[in-house]
Amino acid sequence: MLSRWDQTDASAPLFNRSTSQPRMSRIRLLPETVASQVAAGEVIERPASVIKELIENSIDAGARKIDIFIRRGGISLMRVIDDGCGMDRDDTLLSLERHATSKIRSVSDLEAIATLGFRGEALPSIASVSRFRLTTREPNAVVGTEIVVNGGKIDIVRDGGEAPGTQVEVRSLFYNVPARRKFLRAENTEGRNVEHQLHLQAIGHAGVGFTFARDDRVVFQLPGTATLSDRIRDLYGNELLAQLLSLNGASSSQIKISGLIGQPGLSRQTRSQQLVFVNGRAIESPLITTAIREGYHTALMKGQYAVTFLFLELDPGAVDVNVHPAKREVRFRDPNSVREAIVRAIQERLARGRVDWQEKFRAPTATATPTQPVVNLTLRPQAVAPEESDRELPQFAPTSSAHREQVFGKPVDVEPDAATKRDGRQQQFQIIGVLNKLYVLMENADGLVLVDQHAAHERILFEELRRRMEDQGVPSQKLLISQTFELPPRDADWIEQNMSIFQKMGIGIESFGPNTFKIDSLPGFLNVTDSAQFMRTVIDNLKSASDRSSPLRLGEEMIAKTVCRHAVKANDPLRYLEVEKLIQDLLDCDLPYCCPHGRPTMIQISHAELEKKFGRKV
Ligand SMILES: Nc1ncnc2c1ncn2[C@@H]1O[C@H](COP(=O)(O)OP(=O)(O)OP(=O)(O)O)[C@@H](O)[C@H]1O
Ligand SMILES: [Mg+2]
Repeated sequence: MLSRWDQTDASAPLFNRSTSQPRMSRIRLLPETVASQVAAGEVIERPASVIKELIENSIDAGARKIDIFIRRGGISLMRVIDDGCGMDRDDTLLSLERHATSKIRSVSDLEAIATLGFRGEALPSIASVSRFRLTTREPNAVVGTEIVVNGGKIDIVRDGGEAPGTQVEVRSLFYNVPARRKFLRAENTEGRNVEHQLHLQAIGHAGVGFTFARDDRVVFQLPGTATLSDRIRDLYGNELLAQLLSLNGASSSQIKISGLIGQPGLSRQTRSQQLVFVNGRAIESPLITTAIREGYHTALMKGQYAVTFLFLELDPGAVDVNVHPAKREVRFRDPNSVREAIVRAIQERLARGRVDWQEKFRAPTATATPTQPVVNLTLRPQAVAPEESDRELPQFAPTSSAHREQVFGKPVDVEPDAATKRDGRQQQFQIIGVLNKLYVLMENADGLVLVDQHAAHERILFEELRRRMEDQGVPSQKLLISQTFELPPRDADWIEQNMSIFQKMGIGIESFGPNTFKIDSLPGFLNVTDSAQFMRTVIDNLKSASDRSSPLRLGEEMIAKTVCRHAVKANDPLRYLEVEKLIQDLLDCDLPYCCPHGRPTMIQISHAELEKKFGRKV
């Protein structure tokens, strides 16, 4: 069993160019150690890759608890201890041979892989580029095995292994491959990579307990048999968990989608919290990244990334996991259906989230209302000065309804049906006033709500125009003078292909000779002076934003990009009824909590937060 390792002679020169003597043969089989090092070059890039492989082995071995210990970013030491099935002596020796695996037996097994490992490459690769020690014992065995390998050469095999399970120790990574060692980053960076990898594994396998210590400091201790929510709370805290929506039941016969995704308004500048697991394996996939973005669409600010802990389960035969050396990528047999399922699951969940929000916007119940006396604030002078002061919102006003009526008048003098409609929903919120001519202050059962009136108006306009576009097309307005303009051939082609979308968007455009177009109408809500220039901008925007999008999405993009200029500006003073209508309209939107550019429209400050700030509660 030791033979292949023993025969290695890595120091023998493979080529001897200086000698002119013809050699027996110019092609030689690489010594096993060298072959392993070559393979390691692909699989083992840095300490985090070692950790990944070792943990995946532990999980495949049925471990319920895994302890990880690293020193100096993992470069000087990594130790992974599991309570899995362990190995007997023969298997221990075999496990260090290349292409020795217990996980697949034939090519047909490759077509439906249910384990994390399958190549039989990881352990020999790691052992060939480090000082490696493995101890293992099967649960019922009297004695286990200890094996020590240095740079691919087996030095010690003896009885050992205390607790049932397997312990692997990897010291001095790349000590014998200086070229690789040079590519390692600072210890801190490597340590962070290890930690990120551990997060992936811990989230992907919430049922397994993990402890992680770095340079003798315990970083986390995660109990086993946890749910995904427990795991996320333990790793990232309650604050993040409270902003996540659970995805479940969104499944078809081919694919099951579950997990937790960020509510609109929650986003990050990088993809570091956009995690995706396919059959328990953390993967990176441009296809899925795009689908997530599409699912969020207007709920995401430009350049921001959604937070997701997304789990896809499909028949192992429907994914090929054997496409990337570190198994970070997969290939789907039916990528389109995967993409569509993800987009749909996210869209549906975000739309459902709206009901939860409306729930939150109920007026404060008697018990929830703070019992402290109302602070008697004087109104700012400018709020009372104008003649029509009884119809204007105060900059800040106490919330008593008697006072409200005194300030705003009884809110009944609008069209009768609007009045009844409002009565029906009056329970949802209570407006206190407007701060800085921009933020509407409201009270609900949870505490204080601030609404950005500009962002709110953008969302309302956006949804209204989108609805119209879907129904009958955006009403367009004839231009007094039609205008012609020329475009580069590629843009011209693009317009030709998307002509019908432009019509739906209320843009009257037609071909007018080679690469030339005539434009004679534009959407009524636009206020455009130079229509040719406007078209160029629209085309640029749409092309950059949405190569992959559906026609409807193109229209949405245009609307999102133009409504902004037409929405109520910050500092436009609104009257009480206008504010009330704005809030009602907002709550009627599909995605009330963010503007079409993904910025939040409202912020909730809970009673608990207020109490904390005032030192009433610690
Ligand atoms: N922690 C462990 N507990 C029990 N058995 C293990 C453990 N680690 C490895 N093994 C055994 O050693 C074999 C070789 O492990 P190795 O990681 O090299 O290959 P693999 O997991 O089969 O495939 P891959 O190279 O894709 O990871 C495994 O198939 C498994 O049988
Ligand atoms: Mg493995």
